[in-house]
Amino acid sequence: MAPSAVHDGAVSSSDALLSKGKRQTPQALCHVVLNTTPEHFQPLIDWYCAVLNAHVTHQDNVLAFLRYDEEHHRIAIIKRGNLAPKPKGVMYAGLDHIAFAYPTLTALAQQYLSLKADRILPLWTVNHGPTTSMYYQDPDGNKVELQVDNFDDPEEANEFMSGVKYDENPMGTDYDADELAQYVLSKALPSGEEGLSASEVKALKTRKDIGVRRNLPEGF
Ligand SMILES: [Fe+2]
Repeated sequence: MAPSAVHDGAVSSSDALLSKGKRQTPQALCHVVLNTTPEHFQPLIDWYCAVLNAHVTHQDNVLAFLRYDEEHHRIAIIKRGNLAPKPKGVMYAGLDHIAFAYPTLTALAQQYLSLKADRILPLWTVNHGPTTSMYYQDPDGNKVELQVDNFDDPEEANEFMSGVKYDENPMGTDYDADELAQYVLSKALPSGEEGLSASEVKALKTRKDIGVRRNLPEGF
């Protein structure tokens, strides 16, 4: 069948527009949507509300939308009756973790202690070099990283990640979260704002050199 005049017009017009186009990058990464089982629907909502200090903007019998900043939702959770739960101890292809940034070591330490009080503890605490990170695991086994950037300038982080030290150890150097939190919060101002000097921040954020490390922790 011959293409219709309308179709021809649409194609040529589209071609003309494409010739003016250029590839665009997104403005932002907006949200993550998780499927879960009926048993884990409410536990997952509660967990993300705690870990992200988020609140529910809409919840019904099947859907929940969680918000913690200017975006109307950052996490959505869908209850599905036909899902198999993630078997424990088995690795799958697919998403490994999602990461959320905090502005200061003090904010990260405060969140660590607040979650610890609710018995939500990290699986792994590591200074990757570019970030000081804490990895948590939600009730379904999905991993979430809470992090602080170690470099003020992204170009410095980029330089570190292109360098020899990152090449020999792209995993990072583990640290003791309690030790870090206690030190950082001992310096916090009465308002709760960061009280560390710039040189203390730099010293705490500088990754300790442990030589070659190429493997993730066992079971991570
Ligand atoms: Fe990460």
